[in-house]
Amino acid sequence: MTSTLPLHMYIRPLISEDAQSVSELETKGFPPEERASPENIQFRLAVCPELCSGLFIRDVEGGEVKGEKLIGHMLGTKIPESTDASKPAFITRAAMGKVHDESSTTVGIHSVVIAPEYQKKNLATLLLTDYIQKLSNQEVGQRIVIIAHEPLVPFYERIGFQVVGENEDVSQDPAFGKSKWCDMVRELVKEEYDN
Ligand SMILES: CC(C)(COP(=O)(O)OP(=O)(O)OC[C@H]1O[C@@H](n2cnc3c(N)ncnc32)[C@H](O)[C@@H]1OP(=O)(O)O)[C@@H](O)C(=O)NCCC(=O)NCCS
Repeated sequence: MTSTLPLHMYIRPLISEDAQSVSELETKGFPPEERASPENIQFRLAVCPELCSGLFIRDVEGGEVKGEKLIGHMLGTKIPESTDASKPAFITRAAMGKVHDESSTTVGIHSVVIAPEYQKKNLATLLLTDYIQKLSNQEVGQRIVIIAHEPLVPFYERIGFQVVGENEDVSQDPAFGKSKWCDMVRELVKEEYDN
């Protein structure tokens, strides 16, 4: 892991105008069967930009800002609650579509990606930590859930996610069924500040 971080870096919610850059980054990060379609990206950025976070670098030349470049993103929606009230909702193939249930207390993360040339600099950790902190303090929901390839489980555990079990819905899809997917959950707890 290198400690050299990109200059002029910032995180902001993604909006519809970012859809093309998000789509390009999905293509770099995921094989075709796992990446979000342009339609799903447009839907998520239009309906719940507060759950879609982008990591950008500013392109600065001689003190002048020339533009910005998306180098990482996370896409989330609120997924429908479980029909069994004793169990939290988890990501299903249906929830990966154009689905956002504003009344739900569970945020499902559909995508986390960092551009290959910026990986292993702690940037996914930074983006996820920022996301968790913002959602916790804004009381957007009670928990975040994600499905993770087994090798990435220790990475998400370091950020406070816990493994709940194998996701059986997603593994029924032949495109996803090639590897084991784990359901993971991170409860959102509001930080208290002293006056
Ligand atoms: C997974 C991903 C987001 C991590 O981004 P990153 O900025 O490099 O992550 P960080 O620098 O914060 O943390 C790096 C850690 O991630 C874990 N990690 C990353 N890729 C991994 C992989 N293929 N297998 C196992 N662990 C991996 C390791 O624990 C690594 O720590 P290490 O360098 O000490 O081994 C990035 O590799 C990526 O975009 N991959 C393609 C898309 C993807 O698979 N997304 C996750 C599923 S939604």
